[in-house]
Amino acid sequence: MHAATGKCALLSLLLCLLSSIVTTGAAFAAPAGDAGKGGDVFAQECSDCHSVKPGKNKKGPSLFGVVGRESAVIADFDYSEAMRALKATWSEENLDAYIAKPKAVVAAGKMKYDGLPDAQARADLIAYLASQK
Ligand code: HEC
Repeated sequence: MHAATGKCALLSLLLCLLSSIVTTGAAFAAPAGDAGKGGDVFAQECSDCHSVKPGKNKKGPSLFGVVGRESAVIADFDYSEAMRALKATWSEENLDAYIAKPKAVVAAGKMKYDGLPDAQARADLIAYLASQK
């Protein structure tokens, strides 16, 4: 009787551990983003080279509607060969990786930006970009 109770306790502990691993590991584990703060991050980090206005390219292509957009699809922007070859969708996860360290995603790309190491700032920025569509 006692042994059986012990087993059950152990089992539920294991299930609990397992489910917490699954819930944190399965989804893209970014902090929740604040689009308002993300607008400030965009102004500081990106707006020298990017606009969120449709059709407005600066040194970089327009980021209007970039969340969910295919890479390198702005027809009148002169992308690098490396960016053209990427053939990815700018999901939140891919954007997060690219903004964190552009050269790690597109090694020979021409975005002259070292990256944004702060995960919360990236989440805020991506929430802002997702609202620009
Ligand atoms: C110094 C200028 C510069 C800065 C700063 C910069 N970018 Fe870029 N960005 C570029 C250029 C140039 C490209 C085109 C890269 C290529 O073709 O390899 C680009 C490309 C991109 C793309 C790919 C777009 C597409 O159409 O596939 C995304 C997404 C992007 N930048 C996001 C950002 C974000 C977000 C920031 C701010 C954290 C940022 N960039 C900061 C110049 C910049």
